[in-house]
Amino acid sequence: GRLILVTGAAQGIGAATALRLGASGARLALFDRDGDALSHTLAQLQAAGVRAQAWTVDLADAAATRAAIAEVEQDGGAIEHLAHVAGVLRTGALLDGADALADWDACMAVNARALVGIAQALAPAMARRRRGSIVVVGSNAASAPRIGMAAYAASKAAASQYLRCLALELAPHGVRCNLVSPGSTDTPMQRAFAADEAARNAILGGDAARFRLGIPLGRIAAAEDVAEAVCFLLSERARHITLHDLRVDGGATLDA
Ligand code: NAI
Repeated sequence: GRLILVTGAAQGIGAATALRLGASGARLALFDRDGDALSHTLAQLQAAGVRAQAWTVDLADAAATRAAIAEVEQDGGAIEHLAHVAGVLRTGALLDGADALADWDACMAVNARALVGIAQALAPAMARRRRGSIVVVGSNAASAPRIGMAAYAASKAAASQYLRCLALELAPHGVRCNLVSPGSTDTPMQRAFAADEAARNAILGGDAARFRLGIPLGRIAAAEDVAEAVCFLLSERARHITLHDLRVDGGATLDA
């Protein structure tokens, strides 16, 4: 099977993506900084007969990430596809005293900068082979401003535009790059956010239930709903789709 690198595979959307890709016959390299949770995902995959290996790596550390990629390719051959799912959410409004620069650095490091480093490590070989695809999990926050999510939204917008430029560069070489932009999705990240009263007050006016009324389909996504879109765009079924941003948000993000 084709070898796919999945970042953020320990839990949430990344774990669901790994399980879905594994079921389709791919070989997997899984990156996450949370080694304990990652070994749980790995055990699930191996129990299902999927060929997978896991690396505990902090994606904010570009050198460590590059070294882990080199190890993957030494053992398993070329990485043909990338699903960059890992992300961090920091919430806090400036007027409420948010540590704005720390939030910026934390969000940018993983949501945007890590993508640049991984793309630099993988894309040239994909282009030489004239084969490969990249999917980045962004967020509907990239296009919909929200009080208290400035750093997060900016980091997702940065990743989005970076990926679109990369898509243009790689397209003549037969390599596709697409974005999946989830709305609220039931994962540990979302549950931590919903439990944080200060963040909820700043961003949702305190009422998480009210927020769901703004989703035409009437529920937040399951991680598997998002994983399905990632798998499709990575696969040959999407062979004529590049530079696309596929929202998986129950209709919540309306065009301006
Ligand atoms: P999550 O927090 O449940 O999982 C994210 C994973 O990324 C974790 O396993 C975490 O350890 C890993 N990670 C974070 N920083 C890392 C680092 N420096 N190095 C290595 N691994 C790191 O989050 P969830 O909800 O599954 O999110 C996945 C993606 O979807 C993220 O990019 C997130 O921003 C995005 N997203 C999530 C939404 C939601 O409502 N859950 C909505 C829109 C976008």
